[in-house]
Amino acid sequence: MNCKELILDRHSVRNFLPDPIPKNVLNDILEAGRLAPSAQNKQPWRYIVFTETEKIQKLALNCGLIGLANFFIRKAPCLIIACADTKDNLKLNGQDYYLVDTAISFHQMMLMARSYGIGSCWLAAFSEKKLRSYLDIPETWRIVALAPFGYPADKKSLYTKMVSRFASSTERKPLAEIVTVK
Ligand SMILES: Cc1cc2nc3c(=O)[nH]c(=O)nc-3n(C[C@H](O)[C@H](O)[C@H](O)COP(=O)(O)O)c2cc1C
Repeated sequence: MNCKELILDRHSVRNFLPDPIPKNVLNDILEAGRLAPSAQNKQPWRYIVFTETEKIQKLALNCGLIGLANFFIRKAPCLIIACADTKDNLKLNGQDYYLVDTAISFHQMMLMARSYGIGSCWLAAFSEKKLRSYLDIPETWRIVALAPFGYPADKKSLYTKMVSRFASSTERKPLAEIVTVK
């Protein structure tokens, strides 16, 4: 798949087959995140990787009330939590760049996954307070996102079809609305 095909092919996947992700493939996915650019090369991202079904199921129950909206994660064979160590943050123009850095890195991982036919879904609906106490992460870390990773299942549940419709997932604003040429 070339870059254009990869970008056109990527979409959020919320239904997974139970098949595990081979170790070398998971390693390539994590490497894609590691090699990402970051402001002043601070590399604030930190990743917590789950590959055991029972642990993923337990985690799905520890994302707070709002996290139940993403209860589909319990069926993924792999779940990655993207954190950022704010000790490695660059602040410029009043902006914290750890979020930007970690988003770039995590998205590179998602694109690498897709190149192997592995789907994922960026998730922001979780209670950071609940999750951080469950994971017992260092105080300087923020939890930026989580994402399930796995081979897409052909059959989509009614719930995930509704989520995708609710988010109008296939729609995009036209270039004319988002680009200003000066
Ligand atoms: C920052 C961010 C947060 C998101 N949070 C959630 C979420 O909590 N639950 C969910 O099902 N999808 C979530 N999504 C996925 C979006 O709904 C999805 O990317 C969007 O509708 C476009 O669809 P596509 O990814 O299939 O192209 C999130 C995406 C982003 C980038």
